[in-house]
Amino acid sequence: MTIKEYIKARKEEIKAEVAAMPKKPNLVIVQLNEDEASKAYVKGKLKDAAELGINAKLLKFPVEMSEKALLKEIAKLNKDKKVDGFIVQMPLPKQIDEEKVKLAVAPEKDVDGFHPMSALNPCTPQGIMNYLKHEGVEFLGKNAVVIGRSNIVGKPMAKMLLKESCNVTVLHSKTSKEDMARYLKYADIVVVAVGRQHLITKEFEFKPSAVLVDVGINRDENGLHGDIEPGMPVALQTPVPGGVGLLTRLALMENLLKIGR
Ligand code: GUN
Repeated sequence: MTIKEYIKARKEEIKAEVAAMPKKPNLVIVQLNEDEASKAYVKGKLKDAAELGINAKLLKFPVEMSEKALLKEIAKLNKDKKVDGFIVQMPLPKQIDEEKVKLAVAPEKDVDGFHPMSALNPCTPQGIMNYLKHEGVEFLGKNAVVIGRSNIVGKPMAKMLLKESCNVTVLHSKTSKEDMARYLKYADIVVVAVGRQHLITKEFEFKPSAVLVDVGINRDENGLHGDIEPGMPVALQTPVPGGVGLLTRLALMENLLKIGR
């Protein structure tokens, strides 16, 4: 099933689940930045929530907001019984320490899964795992290569693949092309989250049975591009746009329902 088909089917299930709930879940999205990618994410999240019957509210603050003022707003949301879950859209402006913010969100309301005590996983790797499982991808004893080591994607992705008993290798932007080629040649599952347009090209050799997941979102005058060249000769390659971004948004709604239940 393509990602678009999968999202459509899952949304129908979630819609039915929400319709049967005596009280609709309440999500709050806190946004301080004005960057284009974040605007698109937030718009997408609000659209998904509306479509699924979830109450979502955008709480927008000026980019100049102080860390102290933001932490105060977070404390308010933590206490607000009407709010089931909330997220603080990343990246945050320079004057604010993102790690402090992640720790300030009450773990039981942390639908982003960013707090170390959160019972939930970060949305991007969670959304990817859900889709791969749905597609019947095998994990046990398989060679998984994660390229990228961010706290939001690379690290939690590696952890989740390890939990499924993959042999996990984590590479990153400083890995040489020669080394990358050596690892990719034997890879069964590859997740690329570096943020460099077409870092992975057809120059690299892959198993025909390989599964390639592209987390990259690189924008230029021609539109959005992934970290992987389109049309790789493999079993499955997720598209950009219309790929992991949609899975991430879906996982956020699924995380919210897990809290609301
Ligand atoms: N910025 C990019 N992806 C995400 C995400 O999943 N959650 C939040 N809060 N910010 C993001």
